[in-house]
Amino acid sequence: MDTGLEGKTALVTGGSSGIGLGIALALAEEGVNLAIASRNPDEAALDQVRAKGVEVTRIAADLSKEEEVLRMVKEAIAGLDHIDFYINNAAWTWHQPITKIDSESWYKTLNTNLSSCLWACREMSKYMISRRSGSIVIIGSTVRFIPAYKETSYRISKVGLKSLMQNLAVELAPHGIRVNMVTPGHYKTRMTGNIPDEIEEKLKGVIPLHRFGNPVEVGHAVAFLLSEKLSGYTTGGDLVIDGGLSMLPLRFMSEQEIHDMNL
Ligand SMILES: NC(=O)c1ccc[n+]([C@@H]2O[C@H](COP(=O)([O-])OP(=O)(O)OC[C@H]3O[C@@H](n4cnc5c(N)ncnc54)[C@H](OP(=O)(O)O)[C@@H]3O)[C@@H](O)[C@H]2O)c1
Repeated sequence: MDTGLEGKTALVTGGSSGIGLGIALALAEEGVNLAIASRNPDEAALDQVRAKGVEVTRIAADLSKEEEVLRMVKEAIAGLDHIDFYINNAAWTWHQPITKIDSESWYKTLNTNLSSCLWACREMSKYMISRRSGSIVIIGSTVRFIPAYKETSYRISKVGLKSLMQNLAVELAPHGIRVNMVTPGHYKTRMTGNIPDEIEEKLKGVIPLHRFGNPVEVGHAVAFLLSEKLSGYTTGGDLVIDGGLSMLPLRFMSEQEIHDMNL
């Protein structure tokens, strides 16, 4: 299906690893030229994206700092001539139980995940309003629905991103700019890399589709939301890509009974 994305340009934060790389690869597959920004974008990953035949601009920036975010936006516009789409994906989490949260990790989490998105979207909004076109996708998390142990700061940052996305959507709609969210469930990436195998197996057990997501599946959702042709009437939307995790159905039956009951 033609998404109409061929020849467009996008800035993706955190786009050289995990879910961000999945997004970059899915957009490259559609012929979107990319600027990829993070503290240290991985060259090998960028080459993997370039191999799809698109142009890739590498931007090294610590997005927890406002001045670095401003520089990223300028470099992305200069590198690609113009920017059609902004995808806010970069984030991190510092695991701390409630009695041990320190100010440093709290502010680091909020600055990396939430403030950086506000700063970038403010700059992208001014730019997109001047062009009367553009589209933004923000990556959320199902942690918003289900509190996770030691993830207070991370969860609050993701709850904040949802509000930010909704405010952007209503304020930018008069200018023809759409803003949406993609909310992933569980994916095996650097961020989730420390989970022991036996816990992962248990987690798969409670996900209705019984598997973790593939980062490129988030990428396909992002491509859908950026495509005017496929989702031109969608703004303020939130596409949950979690294999059913956030529904957490209560299980009163065995796996076999659940499988067989509708046969
Ligand atoms: N994995 C999951 O199960 C899951 C579930 C729900 C939501 N998510 C969301 O998916 C997104 C991507 O996470 P991931 O799982 O793919 O983890 P990941 O591979 O570790 O990606 C995080 C990315 O953010 C960048 N980053 C972190 N701190 C930064 C900073 N200060 N400045 C600039 N870039 C920074 C990292 O690049 P550098 O190290 O080069 O800076 C990296 O590319 C995040 O928004 C995360 O909250 C993930």
